[in-house]
Amino acid sequence: MKILKNKNIVLGVSGGIAAYKAPELLRILQKAGATVRVVMTKNACDFISPLTFEALCGDAVLTDLFDGSYKSAIGHIDLAKECDAAVIAPATANIIAKLANGIADDALTTFMLAVKGRKIVCPSMNDAMYDNAAVKRNIIRLEADDYIIAEPSEGYLACKTEGKGRLADCDKIADKICEALTTKDLMWKKILVTAGPTREFIDPVRFISNPSSGKMGYAIADAARKRGGNVILISGPTLIEPPEGIKFIKIVSAKQMADNVFMNAQDADIIIKAAAVSDYRAEETFEHKVKKAKADRITLNFCKNTDILKKLGLNKKKGQIVVGFAAETKDLEQNAFKKLEEKNLDIIAGNIVGKPDSGFEADTNKAVLFFKSGKKEVLPLMSKDELADIILDRILKSPVA
Ligand code: CTP
Repeated sequence: MKILKNKNIVLGVSGGIAAYKAPELLRILQKAGATVRVVMTKNACDFISPLTFEALCGDAVLTDLFDGSYKSAIGHIDLAKECDAAVIAPATANIIAKLANGIADDALTTFMLAVKGRKIVCPSMNDAMYDNAAVKRNIIRLEADDYIIAEPSEGYLACKTEGKGRLADCDKIADKICEALTTKDLMWKKILVTAGPTREFIDPVRFISNPSSGKMGYAIADAARKRGGNVILISGPTLIEPPEGIKFIKIVSAKQMADNVFMNAQDADIIIKAAAVSDYRAEETFEHKVKKAKADRITLNFCKNTDILKKLGLNKKKGQIVVGFAAETKDLEQNAFKKLEEKNLDIIAGNIVGKPDSGFEADTNKAVLFFKSGKKEVLPLMSKDELADIILDRILKSPVA
């Protein structure tokens, strides 16, 4: 969301029932630091009053091309000149058809023709309408014209049917706008990311694992995708929904993670191992639940798992960049540099775990980056999303990239 700071976004509202959700989107964009202005169609004004948007954005809403009371005589052109991105939410079948055919017969469609920035359209309509051949054709046409489509979701519709046609969630729309505004500096790069914990089962109901939430790895995968990368995310069990537009492989054990990583690592340009892989697995596993024994004490033997990162680092392909993480409870610098060297890494992101604002389950992280050159970079406390972008920035500056 950082990319939205100081950006000029124009929110176009057309006449669909989901128009009532547009103020929520406006607030999300404002909270992220964007300046939002609003253009509405006449029909949209029947669903929601322009006054609502005026109160929220503190600026006049453009509804009419020939409205003498609007602050500028050619308001639609002025707005288009200033705007970094224009998003139409909700977009009816009618406005989609007009945009696909270059029709400019009201304030919103005329404004859209003048926009030079990114354009995002968020369809919302009855499921049968969304499935209609003409609508599909128009959406394909918009995509070909460099529009970004925030696909509607499936669910209960205003017409009391279930189907695909609900306006995409406002958070998802905001995410699409961020994606649209992001420079595609990872275009043509294949990026393999691992995330989350692994589980080493002892019997069908017991395993050893760790509290990794997967947030860091998912943030990296999402940031890399927004920057145009071809991303594969291999993840242990987490509660996070994987980002759209990536190849997602779900695994459970360290062995499954190793198999999938080695299968996909061969032609990867960048490998980032944010997963918290279990170093050991139970030597013996049981087909059925182990029953309580009479003895007060039992002993389990564990054997070592493959160190995936080390194997990748030692077999690095020419030009490939391998990045690891070091989760430590003490002696961060010493341990991180040791891992960097032993595993032949380009960068290692080290952090002290076990603190509330930095570590496994937090949304923020306080990391130190250690580089092959022997340099280190101490980073302040920041969101995992911000850290993800910094790691990708440093990778791109790495001598091998
Ligand atoms: N890692 C891995 N395979 C393993 C263990 C760890 O690929 N079997 C990777 C992790 O994904 C991480 C890095 O190695 O990127 C460091 O993991 P960490 O748990 O901090 O350290 P270990 O190498 O396991 O060493 P130790 O547990 O002794 O700190």
